[in-house]
Amino acid sequence: MIKGIRGAPDILPDETGKWQALETVARDVLDRYGYAEIRTPIFERTELFIRGIGEATDIVEKEMYTFEDRGGESLTLRPEATASLMRSFAEHNLAAKSSLVKLYLIGPMFRHERPQSGRFRQFHQVDVEAIGSPGSAVDAEVVALLHHLLEAWGLRGVELHVNSIGDPACRPRYREAFLAYLGGYRDALCPDCHVRMTKNPLRVLDCKQPGCRAVAATAPTLSGYLCDACRDHFAAVRGLLDGLKIGYEVNERLVRGLDYYTRTTFEFLNPALGSQNAVAGGGRYDGLVEELGGPPTPSIGFAIGEERILTSLAAQAEAAETPPITGVYVATAGPVDLRVAMELTQTLRRKGLRSALDLEGRSLKGQMRQANKDRFRYSLILGADELARGQVTLKDMVGGAQHEIPLAEAADRLTHLPEREIA
Ligand code: HAM
Repeated sequence: MIKGIRGAPDILPDETGKWQALETVARDVLDRYGYAEIRTPIFERTELFIRGIGEATDIVEKEMYTFEDRGGESLTLRPEATASLMRSFAEHNLAAKSSLVKLYLIGPMFRHERPQSGRFRQFHQVDVEAIGSPGSAVDAEVVALLHHLLEAWGLRGVELHVNSIGDPACRPRYREAFLAYLGGYRDALCPDCHVRMTKNPLRVLDCKQPGCRAVAATAPTLSGYLCDACRDHFAAVRGLLDGLKIGYEVNERLVRGLDYYTRTTFEFLNPALGSQNAVAGGGRYDGLVEELGGPPTPSIGFAIGEERILTSLAAQAEAAETPPITGVYVATAGPVDLRVAMELTQTLRRKGLRSALDLEGRSLKGQMRQANKDRFRYSLILGADELARGQVTLKDMVGGAQHEIPLAEAADRLTHLPEREIA
């Protein structure tokens, strides 16, 4: 039987409802902000992505699904939506409709990346673009919209990182200073970063290799090189976000993987997701349309990874269903007077803690297994020798650490552990 392609999963009938719900909420929120849907083909001329995304990016260099069609033309399955959307915007002169055009696109994207948790070869984005205005107010509203969308889906615990990567006036100065700095640390950089130094040096800033991270940590920062116009723009965006009470962290290493960005860049991360933890990312791209041969069209947008939103929501729901790890299990090791264990357990319960002891004469190993299964946070192990000295062993069932404490103090000590440790 012929199988499907790795990294391009089917979305089965019992999953499609979640996708529909996600997209219904997205459309509803986007409509409230004045965005209209656009649908472009899933393939374009290869040249569009090379020029739009940038020749020296990982996407263009290694990840595109490019093929020659029967007419001998080089076509590529879209690895992202912004270049296609802007191609269509310029081709159909949509600028004529308004000075600020708000569009969104929902659909599959294709990147030949190594499949892993949260990373697919066919994945889906909700892509949002505010086209035509250079103003910082648009940046703030776009970030607020993304924040609103994540909230409307019920996503919790995400972090917003923002940065300004400057523009063609100031970034080259930074690039030069950064390269000069990197030159002194060549040996500490990974082979990929050696290539990045010649092709796309700023990408060294977000290399995950420990050696490269250490070099990046002490590098000159972009903020020190921004021209006045970029610095003012970024300050205005942050001021508006502060006014909206949207929390963020300025992350000077946030440089993004596509070449079209200017000034504001941002990402929402879900730390609970592991290594592929960006649920959405975007930024301003004031030069892209010109790069494609169109008129100056300052714009900003973002794309959300639908798979990563659904995975985040599923993990949240699972965590909510799993009972918390609380309370104290009283265990006995060897021939111990059961009355001592029973009395201690009753005292703990009277003091308000969830507690249990072994009533079936199990081995210590069996008791520990039971304590873990029943999600106890601590266990108190009563051994004959220790008891003779008036001591018991307190074991942290999460961290595994254990130490002796006086039996007489055990119940009090456990009830006075901070809530977050016992709960
Ligand atoms: P991006 O950061 O390449 O930006 O992708 C945006 C989001 O798509 C990521 O944060 C992630 O959630 C999801 N994503 C990317 N690659 C994969 C993958 N292989 N598997 C699963 N999910 C993935 C862009 O695509 C820009 N076009 C965003 C933008 C719009 N900038 C301005 N306007």
